[in-house]
Amino acid sequence: MYSAVHLGFKFLQYWVFADNGAGHGVHSPFVYDFIRNVLLPSKGIENNVIEEKRKQLLKNKQSIWVKDLGAGSRLLSGSNRTIQSIAASSLKPPKFGALFTRIIQYYNYKEVLELGTCLGITSSYLATSHPEVRVETIEGAENIANYAASLFNELGLQNIRLHEGNFDDLLPDILAAKTAPYDFIYVDGNHRYEPTINYFKQLKQHIHEYSVIVFDDIHWSKEMEMAWEFIKADNCVSLTIDLFFVGLVFFRKEHLTPAHFSIRF
Ligand SMILES: C[S@@+](CC[C@H](N)C(=O)[O-])C[C@H]1O[C@@H](n2cnc3c(N)ncnc32)[C@H](O)[C@@H]1O
Repeated sequence: MYSAVHLGFKFLQYWVFADNGAGHGVHSPFVYDFIRNVLLPSKGIENNVIEEKRKQLLKNKQSIWVKDLGAGSRLLSGSNRTIQSIAASSLKPPKFGALFTRIIQYYNYKEVLELGTCLGITSSYLATSHPEVRVETIEGAENIANYAASLFNELGLQNIRLHEGNFDDLLPDILAAKTAPYDFIYVDGNHRYEPTINYFKQLKQHIHEYSVIVFDDIHWSKEMEMAWEFIKADNCVSLTIDLFFVGLVFFRKEHLTPAHFSIRF
């Protein structure tokens, strides 16, 4: 993991050199449309009910044991952690929940998979995107998964299936059992090179031309930057959009020559 100073410097570089967040000067019609109809409107749109739950988690001082899921987890795994510290360090900020909601709504996605449920805040955004969406989400730390399950109950979300276990063990079976391809996949856990490209290689067999796979923390560490470059260079990938804290991967054949954008968000 890069130091906070190094990450701050990288963010500054991204902000200076990234394409304009309003779409000016972007020549890809798909990307221009994405910026105008998905990126821009998502700013400031949050789900108040979910955000109220986030506030409660951020105040929750209860301590739980977090199982060791291997190096690279943002959580200090194999230790006791308070819910508030997990919520503060691991949950994606509201603007990303809102962005994912807009993506799912705009492209009318229905089949959604998340790797890394944590306390279930982003999963709840995914599940409330529209009534027909079906979300599967995987969490390896049992005590954290229990919190997510309670949250889904409290919010009355019946379209989320929570799988508890290690991605490495569960993913092959979940993918094998799935009959429809996934439309939207969010990979937000185990941020290391080998696991990330291993998940990508499996996931790309279970999508379609118009799907999107979102990778979290693509600039978090040297390993994750290498994984991001590996993914960008894959033959199936026609387009990527780097928003610094997440990277979006598209497979649309209308992009005959692969194109890679970095856009302010
Ligand atoms: C950054 S958090 C996910 C945050 C969540 N997506 C959100 O925004 O609300 C990553 C989660 O992935 C889980 N995780 C990390 N490595 C894992 C693995 N190999 N198998 C299963 N879960 C894992 C961690 O326990 C942690 O809860």
